Amino acid sequence: MNILVTGGAGFIGTHTLIELYRAGHAATVVDNLSNSNPVALQRVAEILEVGEIPFHQTDIRDREGLERIFASQHFDACIHFAGLKAVGESVEKPWEYYENNIGGTLVLIDVMRRHGCKNIIFSSSATVYGDPAEIPITERCPKGQCTNPYGWTKSMLEQVLMDIRRADAEWKVVLLRYFNPVGAHPSGRIGENPNGIPNNLMPYITQTAIGKRKELGVFGNDYPTPDGTGVRDYIHVCDLAAAHVSALQCFEPTFRHGVDGAHIYNIGTGHGYSVLDMVNAFMRVNGVNVPYSIKPRRAGDIATCYCDPGKARAELGWQARLGLDDMVRDSWRWQSMNPEGY
Ligand code: NAD
Ligand code: UFG
Repeated sequence: MNILVTGGAGFIGTHTLIELYRAGHAATVVDNLSNSNPVALQRVAEILEVGEIPFHQTDIRDREGLERIFASQHFDACIHFAGLKAVGESVEKPWEYYENNIGGTLVLIDVMRRHGCKNIIFSSSATVYGDPAEIPITERCPKGQCTNPYGWTKSMLEQVLMDIRRADAEWKVVLLRYFNPVGAHPSGRIGENPNGIPNNLMPYITQTAIGKRKELGVFGNDYPTPDGTGVRDYIHVCDLAAAHVSALQCFEPTFRHGVDGAHIYNIGTGHGYSVLDMVNAFMRVNGVNVPYSIKPRRAGDIATCYCDPGKARAELGWQARLGLDDMVRDSWRWQSMNPEGY
């Protein structure tokens, strides 16, 4: 297939480009580089041993820019990663998050339909379940209250895409609800490159291990979990990337699952690991120290979040293959080979 990848210069997008090319698909990237670096796309091309990845530095809110791209070639589907994703920043700047994530997606899907491209894979998140009503979380679990504007953009965009599909039977919509992506490509050439102080656990661990941060704060050890620290479903980014290639099956006329062109999948491993499990695995596998101390709980955090990934396995034939040791090893390889990022 010929795929448009929005946000393709980012963390998950770059890893997905590798899986797409290796599976024989063609891909063109649209990214405004607001949270990424063009060097990442050069490195993807080097890993794949191709001259370059077709790339447009275009904002998805730029209707004319998107019109030109869609007029120049036919796309069979769009994998839509582009969006702002910092939870804390979204609380400070809600307008910017709604405008970029929702406004941008509305422009994108309008241009897509005008050019007869009505297949989309959307990057959703476990955050749409709020404080989940069941553990492990299946796709039947009701959506919940999000604790921040970022989460609401995901929840609202799921609704927008489902309504558009309901009104026009030609649309096929795949919502992939990612759990906690970590790790990096095993080459150590591409990985997560957060701006400033990381919000997420794994980049905070790697930056502490390399000495950029003094110590990791563990946010709470009084949760109702085996060791008291928060439990999450960490998934290697290469497994997550492969899930997108598997999800392209939903657009084949022979694909028998889903209801009226709607396909929702949890993308996780199904295993829950605590913060201390992650820190201890990181130190054991990599032989480096990660100083940490216990801090108060972080506002908005939940105790436990992990999924039942059985639907993706049964319908897409996809399952995570990499384990905790791969995740912590590859995260560290990326950080230690690129101490300042790209
Ligand atoms: P990322 O920030 O590395 O990648 C997103 C890319 O989108 C960036 O390259 C950025 O420059 C681009 N972008 C943002 N706004 C844009 C716009 N208006 N026009 C064009 N490009 C724009 O993030 P990521 O971790 O790769 O996440 C990809 C997607 O997955 C995002 O939608 C994110 O919300 C979602 N997601 C991420 C996680 C996670 O923990 N990483 C979890 C669940 C869902
Ligand atoms: N944590 C710490 N110290 C840190 C950072 C995190 O102890 O410095 C803990 C958190 O309290 C939590 C766990 O590590 O228990 C994971 O925290 P992350 O911030 O890495 O991930 P979250 O599960 O909070 O959030 C992630 C994404 C969100 C997404 C959410 C649900 O960052 O975008 O998963 O999918 F919405």
